[in-house]
Amino acid sequence: MTAAAAAGLCEFIDASPSPFHVCRTVADRLRAAGYTELVETDRWADAADGRFFVLRAGSLVAWNGAGRGGGAGLRPFRIVGGHTDSPNLRVKQHPDLAVVGWKMIALQPYGGAWLNSWLDRDLGLSGRISLRGKDGELEHRLVRFDEPLLRVPQLAIHLAEDRNALSLNPQRHLNAVWGAGDAPGSLWHWLADRADVRYSDLLAADLMTHVLEPSRLVGANSDLVSAPRLDNQGTCYAGVEALLAAEPEAHIPMLALFDHEEVGSTSDHGAQSEFLVTTMERIVLAAGGDREDFLRLGAGSIVASGDMAHATHPNYPERHEPGHLIYVNRGPVLKVQPNLRYATDSRTAAAFELACRQAGVPLQRYEHRADLPCGSTIGPMTAARTGIPTVDVGAPQLAMHSSRELMGAVDVAAYAAALSAFLAPH
Ligand code: CO
Repeated sequence: MTAAAAAGLCEFIDASPSPFHVCRTVADRLRAAGYTELVETDRWADAADGRFFVLRAGSLVAWNGAGRGGGAGLRPFRIVGGHTDSPNLRVKQHPDLAVVGWKMIALQPYGGAWLNSWLDRDLGLSGRISLRGKDGELEHRLVRFDEPLLRVPQLAIHLAEDRNALSLNPQRHLNAVWGAGDAPGSLWHWLADRADVRYSDLLAADLMTHVLEPSRLVGANSDLVSAPRLDNQGTCYAGVEALLAAEPEAHIPMLALFDHEEVGSTSDHGAQSEFLVTTMERIVLAAGGDREDFLRLGAGSIVASGDMAHATHPNYPERHEPGHLIYVNRGPVLKVQPNLRYATDSRTAAAFELACRQAGVPLQRYEHRADLPCGSTIGPMTAARTGIPTVDVGAPQLAMHSSRELMGAVDVAAYAAALSAFLAPH
């Protein structure tokens, strides 16, 4: 169970280099488990009675409304949230450069990428292209190239002003080489060719880089997972497994995965959008409920916002709150921050503690050092957007926002089990 879950996470991550691919990977997994995709522009006649999901670009909401008795489709929701995006380097609109005999591709950081970790790695490309289709309609297609196309070379140590700390300017120091030559190449021509579309039909692209080394178990006992994008595909994977394992009774278990968390969530499909609440309302309406029912059921709902947590770092233990050390492979993490960087309060913390007890996994409790700025996540904004009490949780990891991160292999299954118990308490 434990080893299978860790291997499953590695497979999930390697299949998902971009937020769009995360949604595709999740959708494939849901379809294989009997879920049906609903389209937002259609009428949802029977959206409460069965297992469904809906996609909006790099975001996805899925729910299990099956197994209800007559009229019991009107049930409150128990929701696990997460985000599909991870910090990386993204391709600029006019990417082609030639500098002193190098063909270059202009890149820029997305989110709080730990820039040093992107240097000297062979990088592939993935994302979405938008084109003029055969009938003149717009068509949006996912692309991925798992070959070593790009590389952002580090400065030689002999040329550095300060050998202890290389400071990286995001405009000047993150462009990638992709060949030698005095003339720039044409990434868009290359892309059209490789995607098998006419150059004149390629209208726009959201392209990003990814590291190519496969995710894998590491350590003498293979009890750690070394992978890119653990933040937050660790939650996406555990959330899907949790939804599929949950056996709903008095609630509708739901999974809500949002793009754009790493850049503030303000978009048509980020956690600050109405994507989750309108989906909930449409489910209630499709089950024959009215707006009063939607508001009533919302008031009885609860959210667990899942995002990865900081394990205590062995080389920097002083960076952590000494009363709240967090260990890998010792269970999921409850995040509390009274200034609302996290949404957790005693109501929601208690609900997650009960879920962990039901799942038989230990729960660790995290507090950030009071003298360091604390990151945030979709928890507070989901709570504010929906009016639903929310708990912030996660699984411990090191090297958050590096191009390659590290977590405990045992925690993968424990995290999924806790989230599943949260979705379907009994
Ligand atoms: Co995150």
